[in-house]
Amino acid sequence: MSLLTIIYACMFYAATALMVGGLAYKIAGYARTPAPLKIPTTPAPTTTSGVALRMAREVVLFESLFKANKWIWIFGWVFHGALLLVLLRHLRYFIEPVPGLIAAIQPFGLYAGFAMIAGLAGLWARRFLVERIKYISTPSDHLMLALLIAIGASGLMMKFVSHTDIVAVKAFILGVMLFDWQPLPADAPLLVHLFLVATLMAIFPLSKLLHAPGLFFSPSRNQADNSREQRHVAPWAANLEK
Ligand code: HEM
Repeated sequence: MSLLTIIYACMFYAATALMVGGLAYKIAGYARTPAPLKIPTTPAPTTTSGVALRMAREVVLFESLFKANKWIWIFGWVFHGALLLVLLRHLRYFIEPVPGLIAAIQPFGLYAGFAMIAGLAGLWARRFLVERIKYISTPSDHLMLALLIAIGASGLMMKFVSHTDIVAVKAFILGVMLFDWQPLPADAPLLVHLFLVATLMAIFPLSKLLHAPGLFFSPSRNQADNSREQRHVAPWAANLEK
């Protein structure tokens, strides 16, 4: 067993622990945070099923972003849609045997890699070109975009420039998951790709990427506009009334 394999296997255990533990901690915090006021962004649905539909449109179509800014919407939506395809394509490294659906989307997932980078490039360009956005952009805004682009670029490099042994990569990943370590190929683009992915996993719970779970806890989106039918009392306020 090479030292490289041991380092990368341990790196993935650490990254997974930080991601799962960090996300659980953050989500528990969101779930405990009181929503004292009824503040759905209107026009808002008046029923719970309406709210579910609104959330679904938000998750799938990025509806509020569409209403707010068409440029950010197109780049953001292209990036996220492509990321979904890329991740679905990657499932082949984690599942044996590979399900028919995952096998079928392989070519789409591959070219989605380019779309992912194009979307990210558009989102990054606006942080330089739009003065108002440039002014409010922090180093972490830039770094997260750079990290995602570097992950995509190193991935595409393996496909189009310098191949790696993907059968061995799969054996390594399954080995990490099943605690039966297998050698990791020592190819530079692969090592860079995996190091950046582990970095992304580790910092995910501390980063702005938390907007993914955070969306579901947003009172302006997840509340029904039913304050006339039903009195809204936050749990802590209910205790005060007793
Ligand atoms: C442990 C997790 C991961 C492993 C083992 C992995 C491994 C790989 C490998 C071996 C390739 C080359 C595919 C080929 O030659 O056919 C690749 C490509 C790629 N990876 Fe990853 N990757 C991981 C996570 C990610 C993540 C989280 C992202 C995006 C944020 C990503 C984005 C890409 C892209 C865009 C490509 C090029 C297009 C493609 O082949 O799908 N990877 N990855």
